Amino acid sequence: MDRKKFIFTSAFTVLGLSTFGSIIKLPNGKFGGDCETTNDILGPFYRPDAPLRSNLTTPGLKGTRIKLKGKVYSSDCTTTLKGAMVEIWHCNTEGEYDNNSKDFRQRGRLITNAKGEYSFDTILPGKYLNGVLYRPAHIHFRVTEGNSKELISQIYFKGDPNIEKDPWASKDKAELRILQIIPEDTNGSLVVNFDVYLGED
Ligand SMILES: [Fe+2]
Repeated sequence: MDRKKFIFTSAFTVLGLSTFGSIIKLPNGKFGGDCETTNDILGPFYRPDAPLRSNLTTPGLKGTRIKLKGKVYSSDCTTTLKGAMVEIWHCNTEGEYDNNSKDFRQRGRLITNAKGEYSFDTILPGKYLNGVLYRPAHIHFRVTEGNSKELISQIYFKGDPNIEKDPWASKDKAELRILQIIPEDTNGSLVVNFDVYLGED
C-alpha cells in the first residue's frame, strides 16, 4: 500500500510514525501497520538447503568483512519473532555465486534467537553484469516463520553508483533496503543493520 494513501485514508488511529511506517490500533485491539519489509526478486541463483551457520567467512576468503545483523518482527511491527529462519546468499568479490559446490560458499541460514535476533559474518559482495549494466552490490534474503508471510528480498548499500539504473534497487519500495555500512568500533569492524518486518500470512 502506498504509505501516504494509507495514512490519509485510514479510518483508524495512527499511533506512531517511524522510519519504517505507521503503527495503528485495529478494531480487534491488535496493532498493525505498514512496516512490512518490501520484497525483491529471488534471482536465478537461489539454492535450497544451505548450511545452518552464521559465519560465511573462511580463511583466505577475499573481501571486506562485515557483520550483517538485525531482528525479525511480526506484522504488528513491534513483536520480535524467535524461531524465524533467515537465509542469505550473495556473490563473492569477483561477482560469482557458488552454484554447484558442496561448500555453499556465501550461502547460509540460521534461526533467530529468543530476542528475534540474527547475525551473519560475511563479506561485502562484488558485482555482476545484468545485460550491459552491473547490478549494485546486494545480498539476497529469504525469511520464513510459521505464522508469517514468506519474505524474499535483497539489501543494497548506500553510495553504490549502480543503484540508480538498476531496475530493482532503484524502485521506491527498495529505499529502506539501501543500507549504511557502519564502522562499529575502534577496530574498524563494519556492521550493516537490517531489521525485517514480516507480513501477515
Ligand atoms: Fe544476485
